[in-house]
Amino acid sequence: MIIVTGGAGFIGSNFVHNWLGHETEPVLVADKFTYAANAENLAHFAEDPRLRIERIDVSDRVAVEQLFAHNQPSSVVHFAAESHVDRSIRGPAEFVKTNIIGTFTLLEAARTFWSELGGEARDRFRFVHVSTDEVFGSLGPDDPPFTERSAYEPNSPYAASKASSDHLVRAFHQTYGLPCVTTNCTNNFGPYQFPEKLIPLVILNATAGLRLPVYGDGMQVRDWVYVADHCDAVRVILARGRVGETYNIGSRSELTNVQVVHAICRLLDDLRPASGRMHEELIEFVADRLGHDRRYAIDPAKLESELSWRPQHSFDAALHKTVKWYLANEGWCERVRSGEYRRWMELHYGTGQPEVLGAVT
Ligand code: NAD
Ligand code: TYD
Repeated sequence: MIIVTGGAGFIGSNFVHNWLGHETEPVLVADKFTYAANAENLAHFAEDPRLRIERIDVSDRVAVEQLFAHNQPSSVVHFAAESHVDRSIRGPAEFVKTNIIGTFTLLEAARTFWSELGGEARDRFRFVHVSTDEVFGSLGPDDPPFTERSAYEPNSPYAASKASSDHLVRAFHQTYGLPCVTTNCTNNFGPYQFPEKLIPLVILNATAGLRLPVYGDGMQVRDWVYVADHCDAVRVILARGRVGETYNIGSRSELTNVQVVHAICRLLDDLRPASGRMHEELIEFVADRLGHDRRYAIDPAKLESELSWRPQHSFDAALHKTVKWYLANEGWCERVRSGEYRRWMELHYGTGQPEVLGAVT
């Protein structure tokens, strides 16, 4: 089987759906089940013998060594991480622990395991490290998009921790020959995304009649990719990517945050009209994020030309699908908006839900 770390989080669980929809090889999800994980994301496979789930912290060396020894994986796809920039600004320590120490621990265990393999299993083994475009820092308005050759200039503690993990992965390949491939993807959106991130946060706040917090002037640019397209790319890279290489993943879909928020509001005006007002009336410009990167954009030409990957979804069609998914899954939304979510909203936005942002009347 393949091991998928972080497989109960947003992209990891989408990857499990994607994998089990296309491949026969079983999956072992290895996940610590932090606030960002949700067993419900994998409930569809509750009766499917091809999926097993183990609760494990990737920075726990003994547990990770046992994970390899007991399960003899054919490959590892490493999604597990602390992933939210705003949380990394408030508390970077957990990012260092999971993203750096956790990746290091996993690499060490993978190296020991792989070095004892022989024959086809050794040739076939891959360590796919899932990373982000945020390691490259921020682009100016007229800069060309990031390529695999762009310099690393991480600005947030999150980006710095992911950059460190990318360097460790590179070093384990260069030094020990571990067959690693790294992916650097742009901003994802789609089903099962925890609503601390912009798109699901705006959808859920808007449907609840709460204010839509836009940082600074809202003119920061992100390059959006639908999560299923990202998962297709990771699957293709696992199968055919060249070891020791990195691949940028993106859909050439740059938009300002204000454009994204307006697009969601327009969709909701259509799909779930609010009586007496347009959803965009809920938009509120709030204090900017510290060190806020102005623009991310990815050039996916290498992935397209080498591995013939193409995104299958336009931004508009995928956003429509995503908004409909959140509207159709009110139970999921209600359950994730408890506990840790409420605590975060209170801490970060200064008020609560709905008492935090204040329901607009
Ligand atoms: P997420 O926060 O939704 O999920 C992360 C998962 O990792 C959770 O299930 C969590 O429980 C698990 N996890 C956290 N710490 C762990 C630990 N110590 N041991 C084991 N499991 C642990 O994140 P996501 O948005 O799904 O991102 C997944 C990966 O993709 C991350 O590595 C992230 O850096 C990368 N990435 C994300 C985006 C994006 O837009 N979300 C874009 C590019 C790359
Ligand atoms: P986010 O979804 O946190 O992803 P990332 O920081 O990894 O790009 O944020 C996307 C953009 O939206 C980013 O420029 C920050 C902005 N943003 C807001 O304006 N308001 C919010 O409440 C959040 C969470 C993000």
